[in-house]
Amino acid sequence: MRLVVFGAGYVGLVTGTGLADLGNDVLLVDIDPERVAALNEGRVPIYEPGLGDLIKRNTRNGRLSFQSTIGAPWDDADLYFIAVGTPEDANGSADVRAVYAAADQIAKIAKSSALVVMKSTVPVGTCDALQGYLGASKRHGVELEVVSNPEFLREGDAVTDFLRPERVVLGVQSDRAQQILRKLYAPIQLQGERVVVTDPRSSELIKYASNSMLAMRVSFMNELSRLCHATGADIHSVRLGMGADSRIGKKFLYAGPGYGGSCFPKDVKALIALGKQHGVHLRLAEATDLANDEQAAFLATLVDQTLGGVKGKTLAFWGLSFKPETDDIRNAPSLRLAKVMLDAGASIVGHDPEGGENFLKALGDTGGRVRVVDRDYDALEGAHALVLLTEWRSYRAPNFDEIRRRLLPPSPVVIDGRNIWRSAEVRRAGLRYVGVGVPSTGSTAQMPAKSSRALDGS
Ligand SMILES: NC(=O)c1ccc[n+]([C@@H]2O[C@H](COP(=O)([O-])OP(=O)(O)OC[C@H]3O[C@@H](n4cnc5c(N)ncnc54)[C@H](O)[C@@H]3O)[C@@H](O)[C@H]2O)c1
Repeated sequence: MRLVVFGAGYVGLVTGTGLADLGNDVLLVDIDPERVAALNEGRVPIYEPGLGDLIKRNTRNGRLSFQSTIGAPWDDADLYFIAVGTPEDANGSADVRAVYAAADQIAKIAKSSALVVMKSTVPVGTCDALQGYLGASKRHGVELEVVSNPEFLREGDAVTDFLRPERVVLGVQSDRAQQILRKLYAPIQLQGERVVVTDPRSSELIKYASNSMLAMRVSFMNELSRLCHATGADIHSVRLGMGADSRIGKKFLYAGPGYGGSCFPKDVKALIALGKQHGVHLRLAEATDLANDEQAAFLATLVDQTLGGVKGKTLAFWGLSFKPETDDIRNAPSLRLAKVMLDAGASIVGHDPEGGENFLKALGDTGGRVRVVDRDYDALEGAHALVLLTEWRSYRAPNFDEIRRRLLPPSPVVIDGRNIWRSAEVRRAGLRYVGVGVPSTGSTAQMPAKSSRALDGS
């Protein structure tokens, strides 16, 4: 089939490339000319494991191309995907202006009937509203049917998630639309992956509800971690005990610096805003959001108290991206903590395998108080503390003796914002250890072997 994807960001680029790999002809359209130029020169503008090779393979065989505007050869596409950003607006709602801008392009170009597939995360009712909008602007004889097909990929695992999704959700109004989408996704349904077919409104809500439920689990564990600090309980043991109950399950039970990224914070807020618009008070979603802010504040206080104040001190940050295996720093815990620490008079030397450049860009002019280094251990030189914020694989089993040697004496400390290190091992190297919800005397939990995966797949 012939497909056009609007938006070549984390979702659009992976989806478009993945669909080309399934044998379709795909045009990716992005309004950012620099992004398009980079892609046409063979450079991948984001870090996503496996994506570069997939792009190369599909551009080489002519199935994948990139443009900043859409031209006549694509007026007969079978499907137009919308995968543009829907950021938070001033009221916490999703800003859907880019969605409508893409829809305008589609209305202008389409000369034959096609599906308009909503990949962007949009408020309930957006697809129906867009259907009316496109219906009003359609040309004679051109039927554009808007369907909801929310995206569930996880950055860092996006290519695998595209090729082996746990579920595909289709919010459709007609059998015809369902058949076309089933045919499109058939090559990745070989192992019986689930297809959930519903109406567009339910489909739109599934996306917000899923992200908010996951965020809620994280916020609950974060609240419990604060209770552990206050009571002397150990969040590791609490997690292991809770996760052993198959009704609860093991995933998304990790306390940490608060959830971040481009989805959870904005989607929880957008769900709350949607509830308000419809007179439904979503108390759990509100508490989830609030608890997340409180966890960020808690971590900042923990750092400050551990160091007896941070004014004039230098902090080494390991992990700047919001999760491992991505360069995405949108709403990253590192940014939130950095802002508070800078306001309190600290300096920061950061390291991240991929996110350093974006971190510096997001912080803007800090008067030279933030640096990013290429080598992880170099960040420790002359720092008063190491703060671990993202559990990249390369940080999981560090040389704690080397960390102690590089940090400033007399009382070097590591603050493990993701609870990935064993306190006893850190202490043996002569370092102080501070975790999130872990007793100051150290964790007593018998922890299973370390996993190399991200703690939360947000
Ligand atoms: N990032 C994720 O992990 C993820 C997962 C699931 C769903 N989503 C949702 O998918 C959508 C896209 O997210 P993202 O992370 O890929 O965003 P992104 O910011 O990485 O990419 C969006 C791209 O759209 C382009 N764009 C904006 N307006 C455009 C227009 N009118 N025409 C063409 N291109 C345009 C931008 O230049 C940008 O490159 C959002 O609604 C998001 O909530 C994201």
